[in-house]
Amino acid sequence: MENARTIRERALREVESAQALEELEGARTRYLGRSGEITRFLRSVADLPVEERPNAGKQWNDLRAEIQAAIEARRDALADPAPQSSGFDPTLPGKRPPVGTPHVLMQTMIELVGVFRQMGYSVADGPEIESAYYNFEALNIPEDHPTRDDHDSLFLEDGRLLRTQMSPVQIHVMERNPPPVRVVAPGRVYRRDNFDASHSPYFWQMEGLDVGPDVTLGDLKGTLHEFVRLSFGDTKVRFRASYFPFTEPSLELDVACTVCGGRGCPVCKQSGWVEILGCGMVHPRVLRGAGYDSEAVSGFAFGMGLDRITLLRHRIPDIRLLYENDLRFLHQFEPGK
Ligand code: DAH
Repeated sequence: MENARTIRERALREVESAQALEELEGARTRYLGRSGEITRFLRSVADLPVEERPNAGKQWNDLRAEIQAAIEARRDALADPAPQSSGFDPTLPGKRPPVGTPHVLMQTMIELVGVFRQMGYSVADGPEIESAYYNFEALNIPEDHPTRDDHDSLFLEDGRLLRTQMSPVQIHVMERNPPPVRVVAPGRVYRRDNFDASHSPYFWQMEGLDVGPDVTLGDLKGTLHEFVRLSFGDTKVRFRASYFPFTEPSLELDVACTVCGGRGCPVCKQSGWVEILGCGMVHPRVLRGAGYDSEAVSGFAFGMGLDRITLLRHRIPDIRLLYENDLRFLHQFEPGK
């Protein structure tokens, strides 16, 4: 005959493995019911010799209590099942969630702003919708000036326009701050252009302005040379005379072509040089219009295309790539890659 220990093991196994309340009730009846196994053993204690009864009685009573407790625990578990396993294994190494990084164009902006901050510039901002006054007049571009056509502006119905350049920020900065001022202003500008490999109806520029008691053309050259050194490395630069209505004199700054190193290639149109910015001494009329005394202060300004610089630095052949948000393209420029 089975002894108490093996009955106990069998009973507990059945209770624990019961998958439904009916199954559990079956086990209860089999062991603890009116004619259940344990019940029958308990009843038979009365037939034992007197001296054996206390021990045998305690043994079967304890076992009955234990099985009863196991049945109750199993009943609770079946009534309120633990969440089904989802196949989630917490011991496996996790998948790294995709983390965003600055767009390659914004990386250029952040870096170049950093270079100017290092040189003592702060960052200024202005509205994307401007009046013709700020976008043109205040910059010495009168109504009939041919430059206005070059800018192919996008006008709003009320006569205002999407800024075509970041230069209007010069005016806002001078109107709001007494000299000296030393700012850069990165931002988006708009022109009535269609997309092609080198044009986009919107692109990014960074304007710079440095005005004070005796800011000279030498300061302009020194500052911009240092800017190129810090952001392009030891590249050859050259200044060329140019024309902008809001500067006098006006210059353009070229760097040795980053693609061919100056030997000549399609990017630099075989010239070995690429233009990266326009600059010049702020026209006295612009200073006066913004409320500055053009006898007491002078300054220089510059403006660069951040898209163009991004394309050059990374040898990207088409500006449209910067605006298509194709992650396969953008992932190549994740910092650290
Ligand atoms: N605003 C000019 C443009 O969009 C760029 C520019 C040229 C800005 C010369 C300047 C400057 O401040 O001095 O083409």
